[in-house]
Amino acid sequence: MHSSIVIQLPQIIRREATTIAITVCPVTPSFAAEIGDVDLSKPIEPSDLSAIKDAFAKYAVLIFPEQHLSSDQHLDFARHFGPLETTIALFRKDAQLRVSPEFADVSNLNPHNEVWDKESRQRMFQLGNRLWHTDSSFKRLQARASLLYARLIPPVGGHTEFADERAAYDSLPDATKRRLTSLVAEHSIFNSRARLGFTNFSEEERQGMPPVPQVIVRTIPESGRKSLYLASHAGRIFGMPEQEGRALIEELVAYATQRQFVYTHRWRVYDLAIWDNRCTMHRGTEFDDLRWKRDMQRATVCDIANSCEQEGIAVEAA
Ligand code: OGA
Ligand code: MN
Repeated sequence: MHSSIVIQLPQIIRREATTIAITVCPVTPSFAAEIGDVDLSKPIEPSDLSAIKDAFAKYAVLIFPEQHLSSDQHLDFARHFGPLETTIALFRKDAQLRVSPEFADVSNLNPHNEVWDKESRQRMFQLGNRLWHTDSSFKRLQARASLLYARLIPPVGGHTEFADERAAYDSLPDATKRRLTSLVAEHSIFNSRARLGFTNFSEEERQGMPPVPQVIVRTIPESGRKSLYLASHAGRIFGMPEQEGRALIEELVAYATQRQFVYTHRWRVYDLAIWDNRCTMHRGTEFDDLRWKRDMQRATVCDIANSCEQEGIAVEAA
């Protein structure tokens, strides 16, 4: 009698341990959610992974608080969403990497782990993250998802804002939706940097990242929802006078980043955030980057094909 109770107890504990599912806690009704009851440093249960993917299709920004991750664990989790990108810092002739090339180093630190210099090229380049954008839309194979992990954050500022481009699209008048469908913009990393007056790139660097076409309206396969696809990397629009296309991009980015579409993430150390680059824009906010260290690394997952190809739109050569 007594011994049978002793034998049953561990079984009950074990059964409970495997049936605790993830917790999805909405931060906004349909755009951002926090995910609890999952430890991303461990191999992930298939049922948990599919619940995370369902949440990711509904919300487009997920926050996983209190994750203690090595670089490899961070990358392993990212690989569940697709193949990894490597950093574009490799294209910059001056770049010395502080972290491995599978990461975008979004910190304000130099290779010696010190705060960067005021005039450093790395700092000028990274100021581009303060403009609304979606990651790697300047690559022919753009990013599907980004996973940004906070190791060290400043005491004030340095938030990240996210804009829901599905909600922005839904709110457009029907005539505008029709007008934007099948428009294609030319994206280039040098467009976003030129917006800040940073044009100091060699011919070799420019040739390493030629401009690419991207649609302005796209459909997200997992949810069937339509979304605007915009970024400060966008320049002209094919088939329009250059000035008119650029003016339309400015206008759309301003429209798509109105407060009602925006969630601001205030980082805590050990937050991992994942966002869907296909249907969101984001930007970093200011902080005293010459005083405080902000150590963030981003793993980035490629999309399955160029957005024009996914939408079945042929683009004539530029
Ligand atoms: C990024 C990015 C902004 C930030 O990691 O892609 O744009 O707040 N980050 O660091
Ligand atoms: Mn970014």
